Amino acid sequence: MNDRIADACPLAPLSSALKIGDAAPDFPARTTQGDFTLSDMRGRWVILFAHPADFTPVCTSEFIAIARAVPQFEAMNCALAGLSVDSLPAHLAWLEAIRTRFGVTISFPVIEDPSLAIARAYGMLDVDARNSATVRAAYFIDPHGIVRVITWYPATVGRSVAEMLRVLAALQRVEQGDVMTPEGWVPGADVVLPAGQTQNEVLAAGPDWFMTMQRDTRG
Ligand code: BEZ
Repeated sequence: MNDRIADACPLAPLSSALKIGDAAPDFPARTTQGDFTLSDMRGRWVILFAHPADFTPVCTSEFIAIARAVPQFEAMNCALAGLSVDSLPAHLAWLEAIRTRFGVTISFPVIEDPSLAIARAYGMLDVDARNSATVRAAYFIDPHGIVRVITWYPATVGRSVAEMLRVLAALQRVEQGDVMTPEGWVPGADVVLPAGQTQNEVLAAGPDWFMTMQRDTRG
């Protein structure tokens, strides 16, 4: 979109970024763990997370924290895949530096995207940015390949691994279809019931009909 149109339509979307509910674009890629094809992950949750650049402080802190949480993601049937526009040799050098300097092995694949093909397909490029770095985006993809959550953070603000785990748990809980998760929900906490859709349902639900909390019996 050129500046004139953007100025005239400040609410118009600035890129063709993916939306929640879209099929995650499939792609084959080279990674630090060998070849990777997104569709090979069907049947598992996937968190595909982009970072702006290798060898940068915020990204390094995120990678160390995510690597330490790999067993928790694995226990939730969730595969992790990092991505940036840096080359495979750059990724390998960075991961080796993390291993030697911080004693942390990055066991999840880190995808190279020097052609920007994946970044473009997902809308990971900030159209206002002055370079090709991907934004700090994360895509939570369900076992059917559907995008369920998208987060975008600026380059200067690191993500929370605890929040990634919490969001994944919430997605897996609501996937059962019976309830929704309220603010700050964590496994074991009360859930909320969908609001009634008819007068009879509203009457039956009582005075809290627009927000009925319920002890979570499924967990
Ligand atoms: C970082 O990860 O530290 C970073 C990356 C790109 C721009 C600024 C900071």
